[in-house]
Amino acid sequence: MLQVKQLSHVFKNGEELTPVLKDISFEVKKGEIVALLGSSGSGKSTMLNLMAGLMKPTEGSVWIHGQAVSEMNENQLAEFRRTHIGFIFQSYELIPHLTIMENVELPLVFQGISRRERRERARTLLEQVGLGDKTALFPSQLSGGQQQRVAISRSLVTHPHIVFADEPTGNLDTSTEEEILKLLLDLNRSLAITFVIVTHEHEVAARTDRIIQLRDGCLVEDASQDKVGAAG
Ligand SMILES: Nc1ncnc2c1ncn2[C@@H]1O[C@H](COP(=O)(O)OP(=O)(O)O)[C@@H](O)[C@H]1O
Ligand SMILES: [Mg+2]
Repeated sequence: MLQVKQLSHVFKNGEELTPVLKDISFEVKKGEIVALLGSSGSGKSTMLNLMAGLMKPTEGSVWIHGQAVSEMNENQLAEFRRTHIGFIFQSYELIPHLTIMENVELPLVFQGISRRERRERARTLLEQVGLGDKTALFPSQLSGGQQQRVAISRSLVTHPHIVFADEPTGNLDTSTEEEILKLLLDLNRSLAITFVIVTHEHEVAARTDRIIQLRDGCLVEDASQDKVGAAG
């Protein structure tokens, strides 16, 4: 599903070079839920931006569903991101003047899908995340955890190949964080959605199938997690 091949990245600001990622290779299989773990400044967001085609790597390549994202031009990338990649952000990034329903429908508007089908797909997802009775409200009328549920629904409405989440529970209290993690795990299991979750918290990473750990721009660990005997 996702292949990262010998990826290196160096930021250049004039004469100054900042090497951030060094020779990173890994694969994520369809239906996996993987944590990309590392402390602040270890290169997680850079890695996510490269995987999602928001930046070009200095060296190496990124492949999603057999297509070389790192080789696409701007138009191809925009189209690819819109149809095949989902995003979830720490700060939800909902549009304040649109209703919950309209926020979730929005990615489908850009795909020219009929209003009727948009409504149907958005409603199905909002019901699945437990917000079927909130569709006419605006983001400011919801709690942080509820807003993140809306953002999760929006990320899935296009039926993407893969969903990238950058610190998705970073703004939430511990019990809400747990609810959101449980929801992501449920969606991963029930819909076979592939997730890459960026986090600096071991507790969050420990909930996924596998941890890919970055330290100072290097991959230091790629460990499958033994779930035998784990609850839930
Ligand atoms: N545009 C940029 N120019 C130069 N350095 C950058 C730029 N963006 C990020 N960095 C540096 O790259 C390193 C990794 O940053 P980042 O990927 O945001 O880490 P993380 O998300 O793990 O906190 C940091 O040292 C940061 O200062
Ligand atoms: Mg970051």
